[in-house]
Amino acid sequence: MSYISPDLHPEPARRATVLQRVKSATVEPSFFALLIIILGVPFAILAQLRGLFGLLTTPARVFNPIAWLHIVLFELLNPTHWRDLALQAAFPSILKISDSTWAYVKKPLLEQADGIVLEVGPGDGQSIKYYDSKKIKHLYLLEPFEALHAPLKAALHAASSGAGAEKGASNKGHKASPSECLESKATILSAGVQDLDILAKNGIREESIDTVVLVQVLCSIPDPKEHIKVILSYIKPGGKLIMFEHVRSAHPLTRAIQAAWTPLWRFMAKGCEMTRPSGAWVSEIGGAQWERQSHEGPLLRPTVEHDGELLPHDVAVFVKAKRQ
Ligand SMILES: C[S@@+](CC[C@H](N)C(=O)[O-])C[C@H]1O[C@@H](n2cnc3c(N)ncnc32)[C@H](O)[C@@H]1O
Repeated sequence: MSYISPDLHPEPARRATVLQRVKSATVEPSFFALLIIILGVPFAILAQLRGLFGLLTTPARVFNPIAWLHIVLFELLNPTHWRDLALQAAFPSILKISDSTWAYVKKPLLEQADGIVLEVGPGDGQSIKYYDSKKIKHLYLLEPFEALHAPLKAALHAASSGAGAEKGASNKGHKASPSECLESKATILSAGVQDLDILAKNGIREESIDTVVLVQVLCSIPDPKEHIKVILSYIKPGGKLIMFEHVRSAHPLTRAIQAAWTPLWRFMAKGCEMTRPSGAWVSEIGGAQWERQSHEGPLLRPTVEHDGELLPHDVAVFVKAKRQ
């Protein structure tokens, strides 16, 4: 197994110009905030009105004070509910922009997934088109945000029928045979990494997984170090972890800007934190378990990135050592 690419390197990121630094610190995060407002807020208003209309037109509920209390407290006056509705509408577009930016890095990485695969936090399924379905025995998709399950299922269907084959996709122009059909080999779990019972019930236990896939998800999981430990324990000896994560910057000024954005960003992006050194954590927590780390170094980064990026990436394929 190898992962050689001129698009990645193990060196520290090159120095940003002042203009690049200002653009990364202000324009880029503001653009995502604006997308959530433009795409998400009209949808959220309509959804809230639909909920209110449903209450007003249901005789059994309209005179029920508990039903009113619920809708007022948990929906109309609940900022988290507004945020979730807005994200339901805006997230797919945001994830698509991110995917098209990084497709050239993700495709050769994700094509390496084989055997029993667990993708943590697949979102609306941007990764699905890169999988080589012939290599995959079963695909577990662990996605707690249920609003994304419909587009996730659609992505599986498109990958299986070949209809949605996009530029760069492994399945381009190809109709899947039954043995290649990813849709029939996939299980979507409405759970997070912390839902150990649900995972265990579905057969995800210690040393049960051949490939774990983490694409921009460690930023969002609770109690990350503990759960990275759990995730690593699922990998069989000889199995691998494919990682493409945005992480804490190595540059002190950029780190300070990441920290300043984090409270608002965490709310907007449903728990996502810019300040986690996720790649280093995976490397350290795995420690001696890792047979070798990537091809050219422990952690690689896209060559295009500079040290002013608020979302710089760590890219790696870690392989768990076989037992002697
Ligand atoms: C930034 S999105 C990335 C989605 C996708 N991996 C991509 O790159 O297009 C983070 C994803 O992690 C999911 N997530 C959040 N908390 C999680 C948890 N505790 N366990 C598993 N997934 C989680 C979110 O619902 C979301 O889909």
